[in-house]
Amino acid sequence: MSRDSVQPPCAPRNLPAPDPRAVQLVDAFYREMDRQVYAHTIRAMHDADLVDTRAVLARFLSSWFSASEVAPTPAALEALQRRHRRFHIHASARDAWMRCMRQALALTVQDRHLRERLAQRFALWADAMRESTSEAEPSGTP
Ligand code: HEM
Repeated sequence: MSRDSVQPPCAPRNLPAPDPRAVQLVDAFYREMDRQVYAHTIRAMHDADLVDTRAVLARFLSSWFSASEVAPTPAALEALQRRHRRFHIHASARDAWMRCMRQALALTVQDRHLRERLAQRFALWADAMRESTSEAEPSGTP
């Protein structure tokens, strides 16, 4: 999978800095994932070193905080689904991911309206990542 499909179409050195609120959110999100037993399975899907993933996710989420935010396109959603296909995300993984994200939102986004808007969008996207896999939930999964 190429990293370019979820990044702005310009050379890396010309990319704007990520929104600091997105950086804070991503830091809190992966901190939660690192610490919580319920998140062990999804943490194990990731590389041990999260430096690149954190940077890509923060840049990806920066526009979600912007006042002039553009609604995500089906093509953007499909691009992210393609990148997640190899992880075989079942409902339990989606729920653990959302639990980490809700905790990160609670810790870093003070504005209630913004927090709720972000949580709703994350729920939609997380569900779409799950639906991009065709395999059944493994037996014994809570
Ligand atoms: C539903 C549960 C999800 C799981 C289990 C999951 C898991 C993963 C994993 C394992 C990676 C690769 C990280 C690495 O190799 O270190 C990844 C990357 C990424 N995820 Fe997710 N993800 C989920 C949902 C989402 C959602 C909802 C979004 C966006 C709102 C998202 C955005 C990203 C981005 C931007 C990357 C980086 C892509 C790249 O580096 O190529 N993910 N995710």
